[in-house]
Amino acid sequence: MTSITSKAVRIDQQGGPEQLKLVEVTVGDPRPGEIRIRHRAIGLNFIDVYQRDGLYPMPVPLQLGMEAAGVVEAVGEGVTHLQVGDRAAYASQPPGSYCEVRVMPAKCVCKLPDAISFETGAAMMLKGLTAQYLLKKTLPQGGLQAGDFVLFHAAAGGVGLIACQWARALGLQLIGTAGSDAKCALALQNGAAFAINYSTQDFAARVKEITGGQGVKVVYDSVGKDTFEKSLDCLRPFGLLASFGNASGPVPPFAPGILAAKGSLYITRQTLFHHIATRESTQAMADDLFAMVSSGQVKIHIGQRFALAEVRQAHIALEARKTTGCTILTL
Ligand SMILES: NC(=O)c1ccc[n+]([C@@H]2O[C@H](COP(=O)([O-])OP(=O)(O)OC[C@H]3O[C@@H](n4cnc5c(N)ncnc54)[C@H](OP(=O)(O)O)[C@@H]3O)[C@@H](O)[C@H]2O)c1
Repeated sequence: MTSITSKAVRIDQQGGPEQLKLVEVTVGDPRPGEIRIRHRAIGLNFIDVYQRDGLYPMPVPLQLGMEAAGVVEAVGEGVTHLQVGDRAAYASQPPGSYCEVRVMPAKCVCKLPDAISFETGAAMMLKGLTAQYLLKKTLPQGGLQAGDFVLFHAAAGGVGLIACQWARALGLQLIGTAGSDAKCALALQNGAAFAINYSTQDFAARVKEITGGQGVKVVYDSVGKDTFEKSLDCLRPFGLLASFGNASGPVPPFAPGILAAKGSLYITRQTLFHHIATRESTQAMADDLFAMVSSGQVKIHIGQRFALAEVRQAHIALEARKTTGCTILTL
């Protein structure tokens, strides 16, 4: 029986960044259906903040983190798609990626193509698979066609910059919002057709202007509380509000009648984890992402790197809207 020690970041109770503690844990052998992976880089995601601060209630103590890349060190019984020595990356439940080495279910772990670095793999799996299911599977009635307008909030963030580039590759006119002029410039450099600084501009009025009064077919909204109502005002009749996050707080309860009043609208609240519930769906989505990144159509912008031991500063920066693109924790 193997017993390895690993540095890991754990919370003993939910709360502020001060709850994040670097500890030593013992890691054993994988059981059936599991692998042991030694990380080379770890991805930071906004969901880590929700799980840390209590917006998403979680059992404690909890080792945080949902995304990483590394080398497979041991393979449990029944795992056929991975071998010892494989380069691999994942976005996965349960949490636990903030560490040097871990044992985890193999189902969500994918072989990482040689052309994609560990840092890129760690940065892109959760965010890139999210952009994939949003732009390819979370669609308004009749789908999206080249030339269509879509609105994407927080367009200079981790998911946002990937979505800007992917939307451009699909021929869509992505209107991105961001909280500063510098972030708007970054979204434009990465493929957004238009950018709106929603800290200084009325984004609903500006969307109407850009679309000649029509509105967009779909709004991808991960900001939540602060943008929800105005996002509805950006939609054309029968448009879709695809809510997928709560960076400013959760969307407050609302009466469905508001959807009728604003144009017989549709609303959905999506999470990646239903899309990657099986090995097959995970691999199919990952293959799509790998193809986009390998071909250079989507470049993964790593805006910040923090050592694992500096994870508190990483959370503080992410929550304070000080980051752009993806953030990784290095080992
Ligand atoms: N449901 C899913 O499947 C899924 C999967 C992945 C991610 N997500 C969600 O997608 C969003 C983006 O994730 P990410 O990891 O790539 O993060 P991120 O976009 O890099 O960071 C969040 C961004 O949200 C914006 N924001 C607006 N109001 C904010 C506020 N009050 N506090 C903090 N940030 C605020 C900020 O950009 P500006 O300064 O430009 O406004 C900030 O940089 C998050 O909401 C996340 O939960 C959902």
